[in-house]
Amino acid sequence: MERRTFVKSVAAGLAGLPLLPRLSAAANEQIQTLATDLGPLTEGAARWRRVRSEFNYTPDLIHLNCGTIGATPRSIIEAQCSLLHELESSPYHHTFEGTGLYGQIDGVRDKAAAFLGATKDEIALTANTTEGMNGVATGIDFKEGDEVLTTNHEHGGGMSGWQYLVKHRGIKIVQVKIPPPARSKEQIVELIAAKITPRTRVVFLSHVETITGTLMPLAEISALTRPKGILLVCDGAQAPGMVQVDVKALGVDTYASSSHKWMLAPKGSGLLFVRKEVQEQVHPVSLHGGYGAYSGSIGTRGWPLLIAHGLTMDFHNAIGRPQVEARCRELNNYLRQRLDRLPHLRCLTPADPSIASPGIVTYSLDKGKNGEIVTRLHDEYNIWVKPAAGTYNIPGGLPNEDYNALRFSTHIYNDEAQIDRTTEVLEGMLKAL
Ligand SMILES: Cc1ncc(COP(=O)(O)O)c(C=O)c1O
Repeated sequence: MERRTFVKSVAAGLAGLPLLPRLSAAANEQIQTLATDLGPLTEGAARWRRVRSEFNYTPDLIHLNCGTIGATPRSIIEAQCSLLHELESSPYHHTFEGTGLYGQIDGVRDKAAAFLGATKDEIALTANTTEGMNGVATGIDFKEGDEVLTTNHEHGGGMSGWQYLVKHRGIKIVQVKIPPPARSKEQIVELIAAKITPRTRVVFLSHVETITGTLMPLAEISALTRPKGILLVCDGAQAPGMVQVDVKALGVDTYASSSHKWMLAPKGSGLLFVRKEVQEQVHPVSLHGGYGAYSGSIGTRGWPLLIAHGLTMDFHNAIGRPQVEARCRELNNYLRQRLDRLPHLRCLTPADPSIASPGIVTYSLDKGKNGEIVTRLHDEYNIWVKPAAGTYNIPGGLPNEDYNALRFSTHIYNDEAQIDRTTEVLEGMLKAL
């Protein structure tokens, strides 16, 4: 990217940075310093080295499993700790008065709205995707026999609300089998379209699906669902912080995500978007008291976590969200080129970049056991990848596909040397099978 464009996009990202009072101001300063330092660093390697210096994890760790949990930058961890001390210096004041920490929380919703392309009154701060998804599922007035159309590649965190409704309200889950790898947007859209019936109330899809990292063509699917009055409900656990998300362009009606994955936020932070026009149809009990961070239907929460959550959005903006996405993809392509040469591996992630997420790639093994390889990688080499076991099973649903696969996530704190090391170690293991 041109240096001028980069500096401009950093400046644009920082323009909305409110200066938080007292202790959390230190984090803002560190984030501003990062942005200033990155300005003149036009060479990719130097820039990403500077970004990597923001993280705290042990130097010999190779963490290629951001899809399960991300690493939080040091400035954010320090801010959260400082804010805890600040809160405990006057607990009631900071928890409930606008002049205390409580007064900063609505600003986090402003930042989140900008991060997802929504408006503030469409955003709730949650603990994770699962909480958001449970609220969405149980917040819809289903009738017995209504159908939720989804895929066999969803995660339990997105599925448990629907399964609860199968048991307690008599809804039906209809699954589409996702081919690993999927070929094209058109193929996915056709598979979904073929299963829509007059009873379909909801189409439920991950934005980036958890097994193969396929980037689902939500905008194209929305063009099918919206005219029919079908809700497009999205599990965004694997997307914000990796993919630039614009909920309006995607055409989703609801979007639940986990910020402790790709957004690198403190553990236990998530976002929920419910489109203004469907808020009468999707009404989680937790939002009965409104979308604010505290109400009688939400209850008391820990503001330091939520404020630190907002600071991670500033952190991404300071680097530049397009730059973060491009770096995830650059590292992922670098990794794919190396893994494609290894024996016993077959890529389950689409080759078409328009449906391959920037940061996740998954390979199935035709020999050996994924769990054993994963255990050896972390026990012997401190390399962390995820065993991608199989599809999500529901009673009477599609049969289990055991992919016996390894899932790799690449983020801004990884680098090419880590990928070389990982593929070298893996090559040794695979050749010995
Ligand atoms: C697609 C998807 N949905 C939901 C979850 C659950 O996330 P959380 O435990 O943060 O709610 C995950 C976790 O890996 C996931 O990959």
